[in-house]
Amino acid sequence: EKGGYDTYMLKEIYEQPQALTNTLLGRLRDEKGEVDLDIDLDPRSFKRISIVACGTAYYAGLVGEYLIEQLARIPVEVDVASEYRYRNPLVGENTLAIAVSQSGETIDTLEAMREAKKGGAQTLGVINAKGSSMTRELDSTLYIHAGPEIGVASTKAYTSMVSAFLMLALWLGRTRGTLSDKEGAELLHAARELPRLVEEALKPERVARIKEVAEKYAHASDYLFLGRGVNSPTAFEGALKLKEISYIHAEAYAAGEMKHGPIALIDEKLPVAVIATESRLLEKTISNVQEVRARAGKVILFLSDGDEENAQHGDDVVYLPRAHEMVSPVVNAVAMQLLAYFTASALGKDVDKPRNLAKSVTVE
Ligand code: F6R
Repeated sequence: EKGGYDTYMLKEIYEQPQALTNTLLGRLRDEKGEVDLDIDLDPRSFKRISIVACGTAYYAGLVGEYLIEQLARIPVEVDVASEYRYRNPLVGENTLAIAVSQSGETIDTLEAMREAKKGGAQTLGVINAKGSSMTRELDSTLYIHAGPEIGVASTKAYTSMVSAFLMLALWLGRTRGTLSDKEGAELLHAARELPRLVEEALKPERVARIKEVAEKYAHASDYLFLGRGVNSPTAFEGALKLKEISYIHAEAYAAGEMKHGPIALIDEKLPVAVIATESRLLEKTISNVQEVRARAGKVILFLSDGDEENAQHGDDVVYLPRAHEMVSPVVNAVAMQLLAYFTASALGKDVDKPRNLAKSVTVE
């Protein structure tokens, strides 16, 4: 049932090229960036968007915020569902509320959406599980089609959610006229490349490199993750995965925020994983890396293939397939999953049954 893999988690990590193919299947229409999502809502009727979710799905929502604001120029806010539901949120008829959930059953997310609906919002789910409670209550559902996810730590659902947000952003951007034919076509092309890029990221020599780095730092007591822009959520997701399955204390920050506090934690014992793949902010990320190294922190640098110039800034360098910045969170997340996976395995932890965690959280 684990298809020859030791764990469900590893099986699901390797299923990602197929899961992403299924997420995108039949939805990318033509070379002008038109997408067909079969969403029964009028994209021109929204003035703002509220995304609510928990855990990994919340981080997918943060990537969604970035993509939608960039491509469709609609203000987006993202909330942890357990906060949104109790903070008497300002909702209006021109609000689109989006729930993000693998299971479609997480009680806080479901209740947050009931709250949004009460306030007059139109509601949409970005959901994996067919026929789940959320899909029955929301106005419309964009299924991510990642297939059943058994491993407690979410992997393929995350990358499929992020890809679904890319399509949503394209849909909103194209129908609202904020995205040109050319930009649309370019992003659509980038989306189509995702399954292949993730397959590339899972090539044996690349996986072996991440395993090597993971094992080198497996006995660290703390970890810091840094990323910027559309990849700051990738850092949050990396820290969450590591905490969940290896029980190593990990924190994540948007790299530019480091000097406002967390820099005090840096010493020669602290591994700092930095997502520094190709981006318009890469130079800024590298200067944050120099701040870490000046304090003797150990930098694990994730760079795009071919970036030899920046390799000197890392104690350890991991190369990742080069991707369009807007889709890079999908490719980079795979590296975060593998880092967490091999750290936990090196420590002998049961990654499919992490202590204290359940797959679906249906109690408050
Ligand atoms: C992390 C993880 C959890 C879930 C969260 C939301 O690996 O699995 O953080 O992401 O409990 O679950 P869903 O997406 O089912 O609403």
